[in-house]
Amino acid sequence: MEKFLINGGVVLRGSVRASGSKNAVLPILAATLLADSPMIVRNVPDLRDVKTTVQLLSEMGVKLEHDASGVIQVDSSQITEFTAPYDLVKTMRASILVLGPLLARFGQAAVSLPGGCAIGTRPVDLHIKGLRALGAEVEVEGGYIRAQAKRLKGAHIVLETVTVTGTENLLMAAVLAEGTSVIENAAREPEVSDLAHCLVAMGAQIEGIGSDTLTIQGVDSLAGCDYSVLSDRIETGTYLLAAAITGGCVKVTDTQPNLLESVLLKLEQAGAVVESGDDWVQVDMQERRPKSVSLRTAPHPAFPTDMQAQFSALNAVADGVATITETIFENRFMHMPELQRMGATIEVQGNTAVITGTPQLYGAPVMATDLRASAGLILAALAAQGETIIDRIYHMDRGYEQIEQKLTQLGANIQRIAC
Ligand code: EPZ
Repeated sequence: MEKFLINGGVVLRGSVRASGSKNAVLPILAATLLADSPMIVRNVPDLRDVKTTVQLLSEMGVKLEHDASGVIQVDSSQITEFTAPYDLVKTMRASILVLGPLLARFGQAAVSLPGGCAIGTRPVDLHIKGLRALGAEVEVEGGYIRAQAKRLKGAHIVLETVTVTGTENLLMAAVLAEGTSVIENAAREPEVSDLAHCLVAMGAQIEGIGSDTLTIQGVDSLAGCDYSVLSDRIETGTYLLAAAITGGCVKVTDTQPNLLESVLLKLEQAGAVVESGDDWVQVDMQERRPKSVSLRTAPHPAFPTDMQAQFSALNAVADGVATITETIFENRFMHMPELQRMGATIEVQGNTAVITGTPQLYGAPVMATDLRASAGLILAALAAQGETIIDRIYHMDRGYEQIEQKLTQLGANIQRIAC
């Protein structure tokens, strides 16, 4: 199992390029199942979850050519299999995203129930309820979601909870349904909008993109298109936090500052000087200690839950006391005990953590539990005095392309060790 060995205390400076968004490319790759003709997807990040999705689609008969420059050519004209098997779904919950497109185009799908993960039980009841509203027969048996429909019919769906992949699954089902569908209380995450723009480029008719109400006029078929995936706003925010937590100055290029306004506001409150242009954003902490910033996670455009662990690390070394409230997932504080091992003063009360900043964290052996917790631990290790060894870093490789190369580019002392 590989680990990261980090010697902290270095002030990070420099520029890194944001990669394509994991949470945009996964639904867009699933959407290629809807296309009658070949498709090109660009700005695809080199991530474990992308490799898993490519394997999943290949096993269905999709032809994919993935080159080293982040371009995937996809041909879904010869699908032979409509199943997403347990052995793949258990490694990546987002495999559930093939359910909607398979049903929409082929009228059948068998997708393993994703099950929970470290951060929560992660139910998919809203996906199933929405597909049934669109006329699908959906049974859950033997650990699989088995769905079929002659042709889906447009429906008016009101989502009880804002769900990102739930919105994406239902959107991909509705685009080929007969008639009009409305999805209310839809997720407004930029990755949902990126999927919608891709679907429109394929010939779908969608109104209200970016809002919480999507209106879809079903069409008979969709063609392939040439689409470049959105940049990763969470990766961008993570590197900006690397500047804030080490007192340095980091510029992230090939990104979109308007996608993470709530994060940039919190960084300014922490005392960072934030500057941005059309496709870049820079945080300069001017070698100062950050100030504590309280936050509460919520659906976009509010503060993203995927940046909560990173701000937990920042608050651990900040001047003051902050409260962090996690409202999206029931178990997304797994990084807190690990930060405490590094000397952080944190008191967890239900879904709120009270973090009293300390001037210095100390390197220690810690364990990554999920993708974004890993990012929080790396940030803490970059600021800590001494050596930190982070175990189970396979979590990182799911969502951060070439993280040790990018951090080394900023001056960090990090190496991947096999042991
Ligand atoms: C997506 O997960 C992201 N993953 C997550 O990113 C992200 O944290 C999350 O959205 C919230 O923004 C991808 O896009 C691949 P949800 P998703 O459905 O869609 C409840 C990362 O680190 N819910 O929006 O699975 C659920 O329990 C990952 O990149 C139901 O109750 O999350 C949660 O409390 C982690 N029933 C809330 O909704 C359902 O059917 C939001 O979950 C579906 C969800």
